[in-house]
Amino acid sequence: MSEINIAVVPVAGMGTRLLPATKSQPKEMLPVGRKPVVQYVVEELERVGVNRVLFITGQGKSSIENHFDLNPELTQSLREDGKEELLSELSFVRAPLQYFYTRQRQLLGLGHAILCAEDFVGTKPFVVALGDSIIGLNAKSRIVDRMTQCYNEHKADAVIAFEEVPKDEVFQYGIADPKTNGDVFEVNDLIEKPAVDDAPSNLAIAARYVLSPGIFEALKETAPGVGDEIQLTDAIRLLLKNGGKVYGVRLNGNEKRYDIGNFGSYFQAFTEFALADEKFGPELKAYLKTILNADHS
Ligand code: UTP
Repeated sequence: MSEINIAVVPVAGMGTRLLPATKSQPKEMLPVGRKPVVQYVVEELERVGVNRVLFITGQGKSSIENHFDLNPELTQSLREDGKEELLSELSFVRAPLQYFYTRQRQLLGLGHAILCAEDFVGTKPFVVALGDSIIGLNAKSRIVDRMTQCYNEHKADAVIAFEEVPKDEVFQYGIADPKTNGDVFEVNDLIEKPAVDDAPSNLAIAARYVLSPGIFEALKETAPGVGDEIQLTDAIRLLLKNGGKVYGVRLNGNEKRYDIGNFGSYFQAFTEFALADEKFGPELKAYLKTILNADHS
């Protein structure tokens, strides 16, 4: 049984769908409630036993490194001013995790970003967690635990998290063609953005993967696809074609995927997290009710 404790977090993308917010700051650093997106991602990984995180970064992403680094001046100043409550907000930097960074020097897609992790990962299975997606309110999900169990139990080549989406939205996602039923299922194939009538299911790929190191060879053999980018989905399809075993694990009802990749879902995520805030949530709820009631347009 392989212990899976390395995670690769790709954060190199340009985030063009969130311009101008992302012109000079990474989308992965946008706040959702009190924390930047990528902090939730790392907290989720830490909770399931990951102890090494490799960020695939790019130009303009150095604030991510700074965020996870110690800041002795800030800490000292808060301590001198007796601001213990604020100091505790910074305790995440002391998590027993090691952070590593490498740059994707050309933005050739998610698959290419994962390939940048090859030397670091070596011959062990690893987790991939997209740096722009939070799973579950306040990232309380343990989906990666269930996925690593599935990986080990079935001696899989890849395990993918899937979320049920409304049938008429399947054309926006990578969709599973499941071979079996249930919360953990074997995957026949993956269909990128199918037409609504052609979709084999409404199970959409949801930002978390557990991959065998065999993915690196598959990625090297994968030709650029949509948008001239090397697609991770295409490399996983190649694993399937070569007789590999790919499994899916469904997100449960408390594990909604918050995709901070476009303004629609970013606004929804921010609102939900802010409403769940212990201190400011109730006040915000009352305020939203007032403005919604006043809006008769
Ligand atoms: P997206 O495709 O949603 O990110 O990738 P993007 O390219 O930044 O989006 P737009 O279309 O320009 O708005 C999902 C995750 O994969 C990373 C992104 O940073 C994001 O966290 N990614 C994507 C890379 O690291 N490298 C890439 O070449 C592409």
